[in-house]
Amino acid sequence: MSDKTRFERVSALCKKYQQEHLLAFYNQLNTNQQKSLLNQIEKLDFKRLPGWIEQYIKKDGALAIPTHFDPAPAYPPVPKTIEQKAKYAKAYQLGEDLLKQGKVAGFVVAGGQGTRLGFDGPKGNFSVSPIKKKTLFTIFGESILAASKKYGADIPWYIMTSPLNDNATKETFEKANYFGLKKKNVIIFQQGTTPNFTFDGKILMADKGTLATGPDGHGGSLKALADSGALADIKKRGIEYLSYWQVDNPLVYVLDPLFIGLHAADGAEMSSKALIKAGPLEKVGNFCLVDGKVTVIEYSDLPDKQAHRKNLDGSLVFELGSIGIHIISISFIEKLNIGGGFALPFHRAVKKIPHIDAAGNPVNPDKPNGVKLETFVFDALPMAKKSVILQTLRAEEFAPVKNATGVDSAEVTHQMMIDRAASWLESAGVKVPYKADGKPDCVLEIAPSFALFKEDIKDKADKIQTLKPQSSVYLG
Ligand code: UD1
Repeated sequence: MSDKTRFERVSALCKKYQQEHLLAFYNQLNTNQQKSLLNQIEKLDFKRLPGWIEQYIKKDGALAIPTHFDPAPAYPPVPKTIEQKAKYAKAYQLGEDLLKQGKVAGFVVAGGQGTRLGFDGPKGNFSVSPIKKKTLFTIFGESILAASKKYGADIPWYIMTSPLNDNATKETFEKANYFGLKKKNVIIFQQGTTPNFTFDGKILMADKGTLATGPDGHGGSLKALADSGALADIKKRGIEYLSYWQVDNPLVYVLDPLFIGLHAADGAEMSSKALIKAGPLEKVGNFCLVDGKVTVIEYSDLPDKQAHRKNLDGSLVFELGSIGIHIISISFIEKLNIGGGFALPFHRAVKKIPHIDAAGNPVNPDKPNGVKLETFVFDALPMAKKSVILQTLRAEEFAPVKNATGVDSAEVTHQMMIDRAASWLESAGVKVPYKADGKPDCVLEIAPSFALFKEDIKDKADKIQTLKPQSSVYLG
């Protein structure tokens, strides 16, 4: 097709869908810029555009909260009954077997912007560990390497990036020599994007030759796995389950045999880890049952009255919070992508979006001027035939770095890493010095190569030196 015909075709499309302004500066662009702009416009899902604009842009019709929902049941962190103990032991064994057979891969979603943290660059490059100052990516990479050794299988690691950080992430992995993993077992792929809109449904332009777009949310991962070819690679390797986590949490058990085993034993399609919320309004999604289906209602969507509801014993009715840790069956991802028609519902976020105005001048708005659309991975949960929730303990598995200061800040994460190391050592019989406030009186760091779980320390306890007050001890 000649450039002229192509332009005419795209121009007609823009006109039909009332987006003619996208080509307003076309004649001022050089040939490459013109081609790039036509590419971007051609990639838009024009057929769906009017529906999106009506449903999500012009009004907030995103997700109505269901009229009736109950708390979702979960497996407790520690089995209570004899039956549960037997079930957990069997599930743990099954999880280990699946890991040994190479049926499980790690999957971290790392396409977000990390705006709240104020850190420039991929969030995975943020350094968190107390002594060696390891980055989040380093901790995950070393964990996968340690698990590969422990289970005698090269465990692949899939990493989802976005156009915002794809190059920088690839550079990081290259420079770090893939954290000791084989390059062919580290698969970095990009998620999709959605255009940014004005409140009346016009797509914003970032500059004269570029549409304003943003990553399509972590829900985009389930589609991007298929679109990028990662799913085909997963199938080729015979992998059946993905262990999914978010990039901000260094305490995550990246591959948890018990969680994998419970998911597989119960024939679940997508499962989740949960913890007891720190309070009614903690900023985590809430596990609920809607029409018998496990559903996460985001903290911002749960009405305050529901959030504060209490049981007779004083506990919260909706006490289980989502921490962005899932096991996802590959067959489920395939099912969601059949025919390429997969789409999770959008969530609408009103934001300040830099753009150019009708005259082509850059505008950096000081108040919200448009809408970004994102999908959330947990919206796939109700689509699963079966979904298991395993409760975990905050001190063991959840210390996300989200903010520069205060709640969920690096300072808190840092302390929680030391606290967990102290509790693991204590459980192996090592005496840890404590301060009057009950915090360890030393700085501790346990490398994934030393222990992935507290059980891994037991055999090594006799090799550990006595911990002196105010000392710094790295176990690697
Ligand atoms: C998220 C969850 C919340 C959960 C909490 C636990 C959402 C909307 N909410 O909140 O239910 O309780 O974490 O920590 O997710 N990401 C992408 N691509 C994107 C957007 C995000 O890969 O387009 C990744 C980020 O890199 C990060 C993760 O998704 O790894 C979470 O994103 P973030 O925006 O930080 O979610 P939270 O609001 O903290």
